[in-house]
Amino acid sequence: MTKNVLILPGDGIGPEITAEAVKVLNKLVETDGLDISMEEDLVGGAAYDVHGVPLADETMAKAHAADAVLLGAVGGYKWESLDISVRPEKGLLRLRKEMELFANLRPAVLFPQLASASTLKPEVVAGLDILIVRELTGGIYFGQPRGIRTLDNGERQGYNTYVYSESEVRRIAHVAFQAAMKRNKKLTSVDKANVLEVTEMWREIIDEIAPEYPEVQVNHMYVDNAAMQLVLNPKQFDVMVTGNMFGDILSDEASMLTGSIGMLASASLDSNNKGMYEPSHGSAPDIAGQNKANPLATILSAAMMLRYSLAREDLAVKIEEAISKVLDQGLRTGDIMDAGCTQVTCSEMGDAVVAAL
Ligand code: IPM
Ligand code: MG
Repeated sequence: MTKNVLILPGDGIGPEITAEAVKVLNKLVETDGLDISMEEDLVGGAAYDVHGVPLADETMAKAHAADAVLLGAVGGYKWESLDISVRPEKGLLRLRKEMELFANLRPAVLFPQLASASTLKPEVVAGLDILIVRELTGGIYFGQPRGIRTLDNGERQGYNTYVYSESEVRRIAHVAFQAAMKRNKKLTSVDKANVLEVTEMWREIIDEIAPEYPEVQVNHMYVDNAAMQLVLNPKQFDVMVTGNMFGDILSDEASMLTGSIGMLASASLDSNNKGMYEPSHGSAPDIAGQNKANPLATILSAAMMLRYSLAREDLAVKIEEAISKVLDQGLRTGDIMDAGCTQVTCSEMGDAVVAAL
């Protein structure tokens, strides 16, 4: 049966990088019997410009009805001064929340060809393969109350609430343990249990669930230490599980171990593996429209979509192998450019992946 994929290019470099992923998917439709139909719609600032909101209700309905969503990026200078309630990011957050995409998988995998593209020494990152499991629909991103209020003394005060309920921690913990079972059976839970009660409870729940997965070796790490360990000795990690905000920060950090944030894909899944797929990077307004961006994180996100939501593991692997081949050919976008390689544009990189398929 034909599966429906909603494509939401978004803002900045979003349309450029998404176009390359669509090219790759179209090629697989032609040559490998991939049975999907794709429809495009607006999100972020692009949606705000047309609808006055960063995600129209009709688009939300299409996302609910789709079998999977592929998103580029949202945000840009143009919309930075808007009221926070209609900023581009809210469109993305609404999709995550209403689709209940609580499990965000961000694999930081180093293609061996890029070992010298990282700012860290090649021997520190060679062989790196970390999976960050970030809780995506709770924590301080969504906690109430939140806002900016004026105190009696006339001073303004900004406030947010860092809150997790037990069930939210349990369900993300199970996703992380199950992921660890399929990998090297090592799980690091990242918290700030020395200061924050919410993560003290997080830690207790992880320990409670651990006996259900006796083969998984669990350890706990404070987030500040985890940030340091990621650059000191990143290969100690297999699966890392953490809350929404710590996961946001650590995944950006981890991306640089792979050479560039332009290489980091992500999948955001609900409890039935329905999902939204997007690169972990932002909309890079500084290089938007210049055909310079690295489309590989988005193409790798499309591969994750084939793997998790469209039951085509074979084609996911095929895309990953094609990317590896293109890197072997020495083709690089600016962000991963290295001596002796050939610099290509965003669309040339997409064409090269299609050719390598
Ligand atoms: C990400 C991004 C988003 C986030 C922004 C754009 C809202 O940084 O997906 O990591 O903070 O989750
Ligand atoms: Mg982020």
